[in-house]
Amino acid sequence: MKATAPREPATSPATPGPHGAPPAFDVEAVRAQIPALHQEVHGKPLVYLDSAATSLKPRCVIDAVERVYARDCANVHRGVHALSERATAAFEGARHKVRRLLGAADSREVVFTRGTTEAINLVAWSFLRPRLRAGDEVLVTELEHHANIVPWQLVCAEVGARVVPAPIDDRGVLDVAALGRLLGPRTKLVALAHTSNALGTVNPVAEVAALARAAGVPVLVDGAQAVPHGPVDVQALGCDFFAFSAHKVYGPTGVGVLWGKLAHLEAMGPWQGGGDMIRTVSFEGSTWNDPPHRFEAGTPNIAGVIGLGAAIDWLLGLDLAGARAHEQALLARATDALSRVPGLRIVGTAPGKASVVGFVLEGVHPHDLATILDHEGVAVRAGHHCAQPVMRRFGVPATARASFALYNTLDEVDALLRAIERARALFA
Ligand code: ALA
Repeated sequence: MKATAPREPATSPATPGPHGAPPAFDVEAVRAQIPALHQEVHGKPLVYLDSAATSLKPRCVIDAVERVYARDCANVHRGVHALSERATAAFEGARHKVRRLLGAADSREVVFTRGTTEAINLVAWSFLRPRLRAGDEVLVTELEHHANIVPWQLVCAEVGARVVPAPIDDRGVLDVAALGRLLGPRTKLVALAHTSNALGTVNPVAEVAALARAAGVPVLVDGAQAVPHGPVDVQALGCDFFAFSAHKVYGPTGVGVLWGKLAHLEAMGPWQGGGDMIRTVSFEGSTWNDPPHRFEAGTPNIAGVIGLGAAIDWLLGLDLAGARAHEQALLARATDALSRVPGLRIVGTAPGKASVVGFVLEGVHPHDLATILDHEGVAVRAGHHCAQPVMRRFGVPATARASFALYNTLDEVDALLRAIERARALFA
């Protein structure tokens, strides 16, 4: 992808609403803060519709990361010198920001990881593995990302347990009654996505968590695609663990979060050993630090965590209700327009879905379609989206996927449609 140098417009304040009402969500003011949006690709203005893969970053996040390396460049929790104290304060400050973002009770419940995938693997090995016996089951859903299937398969394989999927219907809606019937004495964990990356379905997590709680089964929520469309409140959801990635929520890559109930974290042994996760070390044996440090062996991604803190400040400073309504308007426009395209089928039509639209176009492979769209400046993802079982459920090997973030515009939806019309003309 050839990109021209970024042109960043000046930030303009949001226009006040009439009669002192809060201003309408000002997408142009938001766009002005995202440098990567302002470039041309193949001579066309970039239309970035791949935020479910990774979101573009606001200037303040880029600056926060740069500040770590340019100024506060030191290791955390280890030095008494000024730079280390500054880095540690910013790092631990980010933990408090995550607590606030998730509505968690205690910052000690926030563990920094490399991403959602590592967070789920941590629970698989540190929480589930010691509790798992032959014949046990981990209950997931048919719409899961591989990151919420394969870690459970790995631990299950160790003891002769198995992963059981609860079904979804032809719209991509979870069959909660069927999930309830699959919950039994053998179920040791329910692990489900809050929002599907491939379909956009928003699962009724609180309802599932209540069912699981009644059966005495803990629940892990893969929140990677939910947090960007927030709000999320882990206490209201009633889950035991919640994982998400910074890079999907306007923060840096290489950082994620595992939130877990403190009682669980305290009862869990370490997963990885190294510096910072210990209290004492001798050749006779070692003892463990308290959560969350018990699960953060080695030097963490300091700049990434601090960048996540900046992303949270940025996000919580926006009109989030307005942003959500804006994303839903983008989704409605895209769904309506795509539904009218001859030969196009939307994969995933759950009511109340997030702003993610997967689709297939008759006679055009999704990869070819995505390549043609790229030449029009429109970035979408094509493939199985790391969700092969859900592709199989819908009888397709792959889809093209447009995913909309709060910085996209209605004009960009129209640009997507024009690009699809060009692709159709090429294959006619
Ligand atoms: N899981 C990310 C996606 O859906 C990478 O694109």
